[in-house]
Amino acid sequence: MMKGSKFANMLRMTELETPESRLDPFGVLSQLRRESPVRFDENRNCWDVFPYEDVHRILKDPKMFSSARGAAANQNLLFMDPPKHHQLRDLVNKAFTPRAIQELAPRIRDIAEDLLSQAGAEMDVVHDFAAPLPVIVISELLGVPSSDRHHFKQWSDVLVESAEDLSDEAFEQIMQKRMKTVGELTDYFQGILKERASEPKDDLVSALMQAEIEGEKLSEQEIVNFCILLLAAGNETTTNLITNSFRILTEQPQLQVELAQDPGVIPTFIEEVLRYYPPIVSIGRVASEDVQIGGSLIRKGDQVITWVGAANRDESKFTDPDAFHKLRKPNPHMSFGFGIHFCLGAPLARLEGHIAIETLLQFCHDIKLVPGREIVPIQSSFVFGLKNYPVTFES
Ligand code: HEM
Repeated sequence: MMKGSKFANMLRMTELETPESRLDPFGVLSQLRRESPVRFDENRNCWDVFPYEDVHRILKDPKMFSSARGAAANQNLLFMDPPKHHQLRDLVNKAFTPRAIQELAPRIRDIAEDLLSQAGAEMDVVHDFAAPLPVIVISELLGVPSSDRHHFKQWSDVLVESAEDLSDEAFEQIMQKRMKTVGELTDYFQGILKERASEPKDDLVSALMQAEIEGEKLSEQEIVNFCILLLAAGNETTTNLITNSFRILTEQPQLQVELAQDPGVIPTFIEEVLRYYPPIVSIGRVASEDVQIGGSLIRKGDQVITWVGAANRDESKFTDPDAFHKLRKPNPHMSFGFGIHFCLGAPLARLEGHIAIETLLQFCHDIKLVPGREIVPIQSSFVFGLKNYPVTFES
C-alpha cells in the first residue's frame, strides 16, 4: 500500500513549482517533452512521460499499466482494473446515461442564470459562479435535498483539498480530514439509500439502485463509493473548466464578441479550452510488467505519471499547438483521459461548460480581469486552475 507521504512527494515536480509555471505550466511541460520525453525522476521516484503517442499508449493499455493503488478503503472505479472495473462501469453507465445528462440542460441554465443575476458588475468567477454551479448540479442529480446542500459543499471541498502539493505533514493532516469526511458522506448516503429503498425517486441514486445486468446489481457500498467519487472527480474539475474558459475569454477578448455572435461555436471552443488549459494535467499508473516506453525500460511496480498537459501541446499531433483555435477540428486532446477510464462525467462537464459560457455571453459583455489583483493558482502538479479570478463586466 502506498504511504501518503510517498504519494505527496510524487506529485511535487520541482520544475512546476515556480510562480510563473503555476500560472502557466505548459511552456515547461513542452520543454520537458522535447528534452527528456520519457525520464525517471529520482526525487519523486517515478517516471514522467510527456509525448502524445507514449501517453496514449499507456492509457490505452490497462493490462500493462494498472490504475489500482492497493488501498482497500474507498474502492472506486478510478482505482480499479479489469475485470472488476468493466463490471462496475457497465452498471453505473446504465444510470449515468448521456440522455439522463442531456435532460439536465434546462435546469443547468436556470442555475447559471440565477448565479449570474446575483453577481453585481464585479464578481469573482470562481467563488460566485464556477464553484457553486457543478456542486448544485451534482447534488440535484443525486437527489440531495436542498436543506443539506451546504453540508454537501463543505464535504465536497474537503475531498478535493488534497489536490494541492503540500508538505508531508500537511498532506497527512488533510488525508485524515478526508477520511473523516468520507465516513460522514458514507453515513449520509447510506441514509439516502434507505429512504430510496422504500420510496424510489427520479434521481441518480434510485437509478443506481435499480441498475441490473444479468441479475447482478450494485452493492450498497459500491453505490455509496460511486456517489463520493462523483463529488471528488466532478466538482473541482468542472469548476476549473469554467474558470479556465473565463481566463481565455479575458486573455483574448475578441473571443467574447465572436462567440456571442456565433454561439454555435461554443462546443468547439470548450474542447479547445480543455486541450489548451486542461483541468487535469497528469494521470498516474503503475507498470504491471517490465515494459519499454520511448526507449526506456520501465520496471514492474514502477510508478508512471503521464503528462496530458504536455501531450495536448505535442506538435507531432496538433498543428500550431501553442495557439488557441476556437474552431480546432479534429481535437483529440486527452483531457478526459483515454481508454477504459475515459471520464464518465465528460458529457456532463461538456454540457455544464457549454451552458455556463453561453449564459455568460448572453448576460455579460466586455468581461475584464480586475487590474492589480493577485491571481492565485491552485498549487498542484495534477490539477490546473485558479483559486480566484475577479472580473468586471457590463450587463
Ligand atoms: C475519470 C477528467 C468531470 C466523473 C476521469 C479521468 C480524467 C477526468 C482525466 C481519467 C482518470 C484516469 O484515467 O485515471 C475530468 C475533467 C472534468 C471531469 C477534466 C471536467 C472538465 C467529471 C464529472 C464527473 C466525472 C462532472 C461526474 C459527475 C469521473 C469518473 C471517472 C472519471 C466517475 C472514473 C471513470 C473510470 O475510472 O472508469 N475524469 N473529469 N468527471 N471522471 Fe472525470
